[in-house]
Amino acid sequence: AHTSASASTRKHLNTVTPDDLAHFAKILPQNAILSTLAPSSLPSSELESYNNDWMGKYHGRATTVLRPHTAEQVSKIMKWCYDRRIGVVPQGGNTGLVGGSVPIRDELVINMGNMNKVRSFDTVSGALVADAGCILESLSEYIAPHNHIMPLDLGAKGSCQIGGNVATNAGGLRLLRYGSLHGSVLGLEVVLPDGTILDNLSTLRKDNTGYDLKQLFIGAEGSLGIITGVSISTPPAPQATNNVILALPKFDNVLPLFKITRQHLSEILSAFEFIDRTAYDLAVKHGQGKGLSDGEVDGAECFVLLETSGGKREHDEEKLNTLLETLMDADEPLINTGVVSQSPTQFAQLWRLREGVTEAVSKEGKAYKYDISVPLASFKDVVDTVREHLRAQGLLHENAVKHVIGYGHVGDGNLHLNIIAAAYTPEIEAALEPFVYELVASYNGSISAEHGLGAMKAHAIHYSKSEVAVDLMKKIKDLLDPRGIMNPGKVEFTPNLILALC
Ligand code: FAD
Ligand code: MLT
Ligand code: ZN
Repeated sequence: AHTSASASTRKHLNTVTPDDLAHFAKILPQNAILSTLAPSSLPSSELESYNNDWMGKYHGRATTVLRPHTAEQVSKIMKWCYDRRIGVVPQGGNTGLVGGSVPIRDELVINMGNMNKVRSFDTVSGALVADAGCILESLSEYIAPHNHIMPLDLGAKGSCQIGGNVATNAGGLRLLRYGSLHGSVLGLEVVLPDGTILDNLSTLRKDNTGYDLKQLFIGAEGSLGIITGVSISTPPAPQATNNVILALPKFDNVLPLFKITRQHLSEILSAFEFIDRTAYDLAVKHGQGKGLSDGEVDGAECFVLLETSGGKREHDEEKLNTLLETLMDADEPLINTGVVSQSPTQFAQLWRLREGVTEAVSKEGKAYKYDISVPLASFKDVVDTVREHLRAQGLLHENAVKHVIGYGHVGDGNLHLNIIAAAYTPEIEAALEPFVYELVASYNGSISAEHGLGAMKAHAIHYSKSEVAVDLMKKIKDLLDPRGIMNPGKVEFTPNLILALC
C-alpha cells in the first residue's frame, strides 16, 4: 500500500516456481535456500524478516530467499533469473529506510548475509577488501587492532552490510571528516543482471583509465547489479577523540555556532550533528544515552553534538576548551551550556543520544522519514512549516501525528525530518506528499540526501533532478538491466507525470 511503483513496469516479470527452486538447488547448498514453495515448503513466517523492512512500513510477499556464499553462485543465480525474467531484490542487512531492500510483490530475494569474509587488508595503505555481506561493525573490529577505522559510521552499524552501505551510498556520522563513499570506495566486484561478473576490485588510489564504472553502482540501490565485493580505503585511527553536547537557547544560533566551531577547531572537527528539542526528549525518554541534567536542558530549543578527532590529546583539548570559553564568555552566548565527555563510557553515551534518535522514533510510533538536503538556515522553517501544515489539516494530535521533529547532519546540510504518527495511514501520507517534496524543491534541495529513493521516492525523483538527468539515468538503467529484473519498482524512471500535469 505504501509504494508508488507503476504496475506496468513489473508486468513482464515471472514469479519463482518449483522448477526454479530445483535449478537453484544445483547452485546452492540446501540451507542457503529458504522457500515456501515445494519441496522446501517453509511456513511464510520463516521469511518474515526478509519480507518486512526495518520500520514495518514496507511489506513484500517473496516466496523464496537465496543466501549465496560466493560471487560465482550469485552469477549463476542471476544468469538463470535473467533468462527466466525473474525480478530480483538484493538484500543486505535490511536496515534501509526507504523500502528498497524488500520486494514489492513476490520477487526473489538474494540476501548477502553469507558472503561475510574479509578478503585482504593492507596495513600500510589501509585498503580493505571484503565480501559485500560483511557487517560494518565487524569490519571496524577487524581493522581496529591495526589502528585503522572505517571511513563511515552509522546507527545501524551492528546490522548493515558494507555492500548495502555502498548500494545506498550511506552518509552517516563521519562524512564531514572522511567524505562520501564515492571517494573512499576503491573498487567493486559486481554481478550484472545477466550474470556477468565485473571484477573492478582495485586497491589503487589513483586510476584514470576510462570511465570510473564503480561510481555507477555506488548509490544505485541494487538497480544495476549485485555488489559482491568491496575495496575501500580505511583511514588511520585518530590518536585522540572528544565529544561535547551543547544546549542552544534558539535554533538561530546553530549557523553562527557552526561557523565559529569550524574556525576554532579547523582540522580536528570530525562531526557536527543537530538534534531538536523533541528529538532529544524522545531519545532520553526511550533510554538512548545520557546527556545533560534536567536543569541543564531547561530553556534549550535544540542541541549540537560535536566531535573532535586528532593526533595529539593535549592539543585537541586545548582547542576545544578555548572554543567553549569563547562560546560561554561572549556577550550574547550562543549556547546555554555544554558537557564534554570525561570517559570512553560518557563519550559513547553522548553519541548514543544522537545515534539513538532513529530507534527512539521507532519506539514512539510509525515514522514518515524525509531525508533532505536544504540550506542550513532553513532547517527549522522546514520542520515548522510541515508541523503547521499538519495542524491546519487537523492531523496533529495523539491519534494521528504525534510529533514533527528534525535532526541530522548539519555539517553536511542534511536534515532528517521525521513525522511520527500513531499509525501509517493514507490520510497522513496524502497530507505529506507531495507537500514535503514541493517544499524541498522550493529550496532547490534534494528529496534524498543519503537514504536513497527506494520504493518510497522513486516516483519523486523529478523534484530533485532535471528531465535530462533522469533521461540519462533511464538510458543507463536500460543498458545494464534491459529486462528490468533488478529491484523492480525501486530506482525506476517512470514518465514525469508530475511535470506533465503542471
Ligand atoms: P539494505 O537495507 O539491505 O539495502 C538497502 C538498499 O541497497 C536496497 O535497495 C538493496 O536492494 C540494496 N542492496 C543491499 N545490498 C546490496 C548489494 N550487495 N548489492 C546491490 N544492492 C544492494 N543511512 C545513512 O546514509 N546514514 C545514516 O546515518 C544512517 N543511519 C541509520 C541508522 C539506523 C538505526 C537505521 C535503521 C538505518 C540508517 N541508515 C542510515 C539507512 C541506511 O541506508 C542503511 O542503514 C545502510 O546503508 C543500508 O545497509 P543494509 O546492508 O542494511 O542494506
Ligand atoms: C541518522 O542520521 O540518524 C540516520 O540517517 C537515520 C535516520 O534518519 O533516522
Ligand atoms: Zn542520517
